[in-house]
Amino acid sequence: MKKYKIAVIPGDGVGPEVIREGIKALKAVAEVIPNLNFELIEYPFGWAHYKKTNELIPENALGEISKMDAIYFGAIGHAEAPVGLLEQGILLKLRFYFDQYVNLRPIKLYPGIPCPLKDKTPKDINFYVVRENTEDFYVALGGRFKKACAESLELNRELYKLKLDLNAKSNQNEEFSYQLGIISKSGAKRVIEYAFELCKRKGLKKVTSVDKANVLSHIYSLWREAFTEVSKKYSNIQTEFAFVDAIAMWFVKNPEWYEVVVTPNMFGDILTDLGAMIQGGMGLAPGGNINPKGISMFEPIHGSAPKYAGLNVVNPIATILAGQLMLDHLGEEKAANLLDKAVEEVLAEGKVRTKDLGGISKTSEVGDEIVKKIKELSKV
Ligand code: IPM
Ligand code: MN
Repeated sequence: MKKYKIAVIPGDGVGPEVIREGIKALKAVAEVIPNLNFELIEYPFGWAHYKKTNELIPENALGEISKMDAIYFGAIGHAEAPVGLLEQGILLKLRFYFDQYVNLRPIKLYPGIPCPLKDKTPKDINFYVVRENTEDFYVALGGRFKKACAESLELNRELYKLKLDLNAKSNQNEEFSYQLGIISKSGAKRVIEYAFELCKRKGLKKVTSVDKANVLSHIYSLWREAFTEVSKKYSNIQTEFAFVDAIAMWFVKNPEWYEVVVTPNMFGDILTDLGAMIQGGMGLAPGGNINPKGISMFEPIHGSAPKYAGLNVVNPIATILAGQLMLDHLGEEKAANLLDKAVEEVLAEGKVRTKDLGGISKTSEVGDEIVKKIKELSKV
């Protein structure tokens, strides 16, 4: 019997209620798939915990989690929290600590979901965005100064340690700010390689690389070189480059063109919110923060939506599909396909839907309906 140890971090806002439904679905799958079991270890990290203890996520918890199989993450963020404190101190901390260098975000229109792009159907909208998850402008190196500064900036990553010394001087008594983006060759190559491997594993044929090398030429020409080098190992896979502004337009105009899209971190952040919209909304979009050889973390890409917290009204499907991605990542393909099919059928039937999809069902009713469907499908 395979028993996966999963760290569960429900977080803030609607996080706990969507994670509750996600766990329900995972348990239902485990009940009907032979030799599959979960041990769930819950952690309280988030705003309430921080307010009580002044602790974001302590080293000992990270140590414990490093012995587990995966992390299932709800959402963090609270109106009272200083901007970025929880995001950087918990979510990005986990991504960087476990070197989850791939951010995998499927863009898939399920049947029965009204698509904002008139005339596009589920067969037109079904691709993956693979977002680099540890570098680019997310390295948080930067500062502000008046007239001059002398600073030492440090970046500690699993792949390397880097120290940059900055000496700046202006002829004006002006206030300046700057933010550095860093891309390393091996940091780019490893995520691009993941994208090509995903393309192969899913039986797809094309990988598109995103950048803005026409303007931000230092940082993204290195990305391009990395892409070109990696692509040489995959002669059966077609490749192309796209500028980020153009691909934003093409996501809307011709989503059927895309199969696997690999992108630097910052552009990936923006493009996957757009992707979530073309697949029907934030309520349906899951994400995986993946370290292919380490501890990966799965979460809905929506935030904590404090306005709806505790009301049992938000759509849990993004979180349930994050569980589906987790199963797929763990190699539990049969369980993953069953869960996907259950979601697909419940959506296609259209009887049980939360408000974001024009329905009146509660968060928990959607979870219950998917559980029912899992049981039904496992009998045929
Ligand atoms: C996401 C979110 C995060 C990001 C924030 C919460 C740090 O927007 O997962 O896309 O920018 O990566
Ligand atoms: Mn985002």
